[in-house]
Amino acid sequence: MRIITDIHEMQDDSLAARRQGKTIAFVPTMGYLHEGHFSLLQEGRRRGDRLVLSIFVNPAQFGAGEDFDSYPRDLTRDQEVARRAGVDIIFAPEAKEMYPRGYATYVDVEGLTDTLCGRSRPGHFRGVTTVVCKLFTVVQPHLALFGCKDFQQLAVIRRMTTDLNLPVEIVGMPIVREADGLAMSSRNVYLSPLERQQALALPDSLRLAAAMVRDGEGWAEPILTAVRARLTQEPDAVIDYAQVCHGETLQEMDAITADSVLLLAVRVGKTRLIDNSYLRGD
Ligand code: PAJ
Repeated sequence: MRIITDIHEMQDDSLAARRQGKTIAFVPTMGYLHEGHFSLLQEGRRRGDRLVLSIFVNPAQFGAGEDFDSYPRDLTRDQEVARRAGVDIIFAPEAKEMYPRGYATYVDVEGLTDTLCGRSRPGHFRGVTTVVCKLFTVVQPHLALFGCKDFQQLAVIRRMTTDLNLPVEIVGMPIVREADGLAMSSRNVYLSPLERQQALALPDSLRLAAAMVRDGEGWAEPILTAVRARLTQEPDAVIDYAQVCHGETLQEMDAITADSVLLLAVRVGKTRLIDNSYLRGD
């Protein structure tokens, strides 16, 4: 396993691999790897001849007052996880190389980014799409793997890839959860033991909503009322949003169909957690 920090070295390496006919699978991350990232790497390993993992805490996607400075970082530990997953190359560029003085180009996906996390984190998705587009240009992957945990992010990246005719297959992967149901996240380390307990209100609400649909509920409103009631039972939980949206367009939905996804963003103490689930399997 090699670690590359230089952008041109990474690009040259990928172009050479492509000339040799190798399929490049790519997993972009911000590091502090957990089993969710690991599942993406495993699938990438299965599908590519060469597996590239990027670790870059992208300043462009953090707003003022967000956790850029405190975002957990541990490259030594990440290297062990990467080795275990069979990663060939870790690409870990410096922020000053990715965004040098005079940097002025951004990728902005309209519409899909106005709602949900885009509403409470203005500029966030512009930072995500810009860095992912740059990473695609540098790493030159044939396929890139993303988690459905960040549901809106995946939709926005699919849109960007289609709109810009990027020759990259986007692969969406299921949410990996802790044994008690909490979706894995690098940010879970911020939670105190008491908050960690309260955070279970998110997966609990998803289960509650799915059970209502199984029992015949066909409308979003009663489901959202029950979900909000469950979430606000926790003293330190503040709902950012709880919405039922169409899985592709992210438009809010009144009636439940096979395309309906329940999306949650909840602050537990100072930690913002997200989770989601399709409401109907059929
Ligand atoms: P990060 O939060 O490190 O996540 C990297 C990838 O891992 C994303 O595709 C995310 O959806 C996926 N992931 C995170 N938790 C997961 C879980 N519990 N189950 C399955 N997949 C999970 O998302 C980012 O970084 C950044 O925005 C990035 C795309 C790298 C751009 O900077």
